Amino acid sequence: MTLRHLTSVADLSPGDIEEIFSMTRELKFCYARGIRDNSLEGKTLVMIFEKSSLRTRVSFEVAMRQLGGYALYLTRQDINLGRRESVKDVAMTLSRYADAIALRTFAHEVVVEMAKNSSIPVINALSDYLHPCQALTDLYTVLEKLGALKGLKLSFVGDGNNVARSLALLCAKLGVIFQIASPKNYQFSKDFKKEVRAMAKGDTLLVSDNPREVVKGADVIYTDTWISMGQEVEAEKRRKDFQGYQVDSSLVAMAKKGVLVMHCLPAHRGEEITSEVLDGPNSIIYDQAENRLHVQKAILKFLIPPKGV
Ligand code: CP
Ligand code: NVA
Repeated sequence: MTLRHLTSVADLSPGDIEEIFSMTRELKFCYARGIRDNSLEGKTLVMIFEKSSLRTRVSFEVAMRQLGGYALYLTRQDINLGRRESVKDVAMTLSRYADAIALRTFAHEVVVEMAKNSSIPVINALSDYLHPCQALTDLYTVLEKLGALKGLKLSFVGDGNNVARSLALLCAKLGVIFQIASPKNYQFSKDFKKEVRAMAKGDTLLVSDNPREVVKGADVIYTDTWISMGQEVEAEKRRKDFQGYQVDSSLVAMAKKGVLVMHCLPAHRGEEITSEVLDGPNSIIYDQAENRLHVQKAILKFLIPPKGV
């Protein structure tokens, strides 16, 4: 099996994504029926988390356990990545002990550097730039709910951040129309828009500063925090700049009837989304959170060579 990493959804072909989705479906089906899959028995995932996490950390750890493997959680205090020793030396060392690395960090270059120097798969568990595992879960969840993806319209309201970028890339790969409304200074860069458009067949990306424009006819409305981890010093300014970008019931009413509302969580109720919407009939937010576990299992099975290899 050749060495594969998941630093970005750009690392995956449409065929790879289909394989991950079909493994997810199977794993979820079997798990619900008590059929155990021990395919990662004896395998170890090292999780290096330099930022807080509930869903990603727990779903990876539980996923390894359910697949018969083991997960080891290391924080910044434990290894002091890049300061106590270089990212390269950490990658070289862990490659001798473990079977995969999941890394949550700040600069995306750290993920790239880890992958470059690792002889075991490196999974981006969120960087400032991208959150590929989240996007895979999100589109898997939409597929599960609506039965198909091609031609759907996913409208993101909020910051053009790590979650939005990974979603835009995955939508481009899968033929989903991605529309995003962000205040002028929080929109995708020119280079990133170019990258998304190069990945898509046809022009499936719309960038606007008007939430009402992008949610019109939407099958899915998605939002995320206005203040990502590491941006806490800008909190006050961001809260002001994002006024008018809240997903509330009047915005939801402008989309298609029955529109799905999604949020990667953690949510800031009363900021980017109202409790009425988060807890309301259109929300599939906790199904989305649940699917992190099933998709994580598929990602691990997809990347880690099976027993005896
Ligand atoms: N959605 C997500 O990645 O959540 P955590 O930050 O809790 O892992
Ligand atoms: N954009 C958020 C996502 C958290 C899952 C952050 O980076 O903090």
